[in-house]
Amino acid sequence: MNLCRNDKCWCGSGIKYKNCHLNFDKKLKTLKNQGCIVPTRNLIKNKDQIEGIRKSAKINNGLLDLISENIKEGMTTEEINRLAHEYTIYHGGIPATLNYDGFPKSICTSINDEVCHGIPSEDIVLKNGDIINVDATTILNEYYSDASRMFMIGQVSDEARKIVETAKECLYKGIEAVKPWSFLGDIGAAVQEYAESNGYSVVRDFGGHGVGLDIHEEPFVFHFGTKGTDMILAPGMVFTIEPMINGGSHEIFIDEDNGWTAFTADGSLSAQWEHTILVTEDGMEIISK
Ligand code: MF3
Ligand code: CO
Ligand code: CO
Repeated sequence: MNLCRNDKCWCGSGIKYKNCHLNFDKKLKTLKNQGCIVPTRNLIKNKDQIEGIRKSAKINNGLLDLISENIKEGMTTEEINRLAHEYTIYHGGIPATLNYDGFPKSICTSINDEVCHGIPSEDIVLKNGDIINVDATTILNEYYSDASRMFMIGQVSDEARKIVETAKECLYKGIEAVKPWSFLGDIGAAVQEYAESNGYSVVRDFGGHGVGLDIHEEPFVFHFGTKGTDMILAPGMVFTIEPMINGGSHEIFIDEDNGWTAFTADGSLSAQWEHTILVTEDGMEIISK
């Protein structure tokens, strides 16, 4: 597709190409010629799409705030699911995980040695000392946003508190590595460095992902790796960073009965925090905030 300077830009902004993504394309072309992996056009969101994702994230964030205010010992994970579900519907959104690939609930709730994709249940009661990740993905007007947080129930052990805090810091190390025209691999390298220097391991089998027009888009965002590798980060890309940090080995197994829930192989604790991030012209924006 060869656009002329005065044609409308491919991004759908309605603006002339010369005033929109012309310089952007030149820059990417140079990088591509240097051998870099560059994002395809479908990974670049325009202003309207970004605004749509922001509005979706507002609901997703409100739901997590609501859970934060209400979560406590004695509650079942199904009650948390119900709160999340009702809040989302009330605000005009749709819980993206409900019936996604057969996933039966509106959020994921992963406790202690559960790494991710825990399924809310009437039978799972929060106990004093538990650490739990609540992961929510919201669709609003067909725009997707995705974020998760950890919650500590009652008095938790020092060990539990430390992994929760370190996992959060890992997310922020990853976020700080997001810069336009730098590399996706910088994110994983920063996360891995921080996790391992604190004696933790990084889960390999799951990663972050592009998000916005679908629940999981390209690219796959590794939480380990090497600086200066993988895809170029270009303004307009939207993806999650969501490191899963284990107390022991990075290995996991999937629950055979439900086919979803990932556990640490060695029974050690696991913690995860997630944000949806936009690459901007001069840095990044945490959309899910
Ligand atoms: N919110 C999850 C993520 O961060 C999506 C989980 S898909 C589900 O990618 F089906 F397990 F819910
Ligand atoms: Co998520
Ligand atoms: Co995600």
